[in-house]
Amino acid sequence: MHLQKKTIRDVDWAGRKALLRVDFNVPLANGQVSDDTRIRAALPTLRYLLEQGAALILMSHLGRPKGKVDPALSLAPIATRLAQLLGKPVIMAPDCIGPAVQQLAENLRPGEVLLLENTRFHPGEKKNDPAFAKALADLAGPNGIFVNDAFGSAHRAHASTVGVAKFLPAVSGFLMEKELTYLGNALEAPEHPFIAIMGGAKVSDKVPVIRSLLNKADRVLIGGGMANTFFKAQGYAVGKSLVEDDVLDVAKSLLATFGDRLQLPIDVVVADGFKPDAVHKIVALTDVPDGWMILDIGPATVAAFKEILSTAKTIIWNGPMGVFEFPIFAQGTFAIAQALANLPDAVTIIGGGDSAAAVRQAGMTDKMSHVSTGGGASLEFLEGKTLPGVAALADK
Ligand code: 3PG
Repeated sequence: MHLQKKTIRDVDWAGRKALLRVDFNVPLANGQVSDDTRIRAALPTLRYLLEQGAALILMSHLGRPKGKVDPALSLAPIATRLAQLLGKPVIMAPDCIGPAVQQLAENLRPGEVLLLENTRFHPGEKKNDPAFAKALADLAGPNGIFVNDAFGSAHRAHASTVGVAKFLPAVSGFLMEKELTYLGNALEAPEHPFIAIMGGAKVSDKVPVIRSLLNKADRVLIGGGMANTFFKAQGYAVGKSLVEDDVLDVAKSLLATFGDRLQLPIDVVVADGFKPDAVHKIVALTDVPDGWMILDIGPATVAAFKEILSTAKTIIWNGPMGVFEFPIFAQGTFAIAQALANLPDAVTIIGGGDSAAAVRQAGMTDKMSHVSTGGGASLEFLEGKTLPGVAALADK
């Protein structure tokens, strides 16, 4: 399915305008882009389209402004960063639709780049309002083409991801194509052994993904806060650790159905509080002291996980193994990142969000086969859901 979508290679771009949806929902600090990973990830598409003689009208959301203008969520800092990365001017539009923006779009020449203001400043974006979508689509003019390169937003059925495809031919960009190829191949035709590593704080968010991966992978390794609910389901005392009692039964049923495929930690790092300078120690799972909390996997678990990973041909990792934001609880997560980096023959795929941040912090991004730019989108994709932003693209 995912490889059968038209891409920007299937279009003759000379003299056309591309209405290009990107996911420039990036972190800002002090009015500047503090992590430009998602902007860099879109550059191959932008450069290709510019070389092919297209004019680019870029659109993205930023944050969740709830259909109203919020100056703190303007895309202006992103225009500045993008211009630096592209080495050419980026015209910042005052809005994403309306007469002034229409005029800017009409004046746009081949090789020029216009960045629209935050699409979520309009309520029509999230509602996928057809009039709003048409106003966006009209910016591309009569020969315009909609390009979706925003994999990170492909799980949202919004005007800029889905609605515009009703008014313009819709094709995928290179980033979208790459994401769908890596994640799609892992789900549909992985080379075995295929090992999934799941972590993060909450199991409730990820039950459908864990279930989907348990059906496809040879082993699923569980770490992070979510493991605690499985520990409790197995009857271990977990002190003051985060546990989701409302999904205990789900954890029990996963253990009963897939017990031999699920690999849980065998030792953990416990702390006397959730703080960066907590008193902490390594204990076996049977010895979590009363009143302490589990904040990382232990060294015996790292060794066991590494052993399982050493023969893997395909690995998907989503969610950190511990509270890696605090250095004393980052060792498990960083050790897993290192283990993946040491497997050059395996396809290693990092599901976005926190795991991507952890891999970046460990300095291992370049050692992975693919680090997804999608958080929620990659989770929904791995669940096996059809992403509306992908479904809206033209089939080959
Ligand atoms: C993301 O950061 O996951 C995407 O940009 C989607 O953002 P949203 O969850 O606000 O729709």
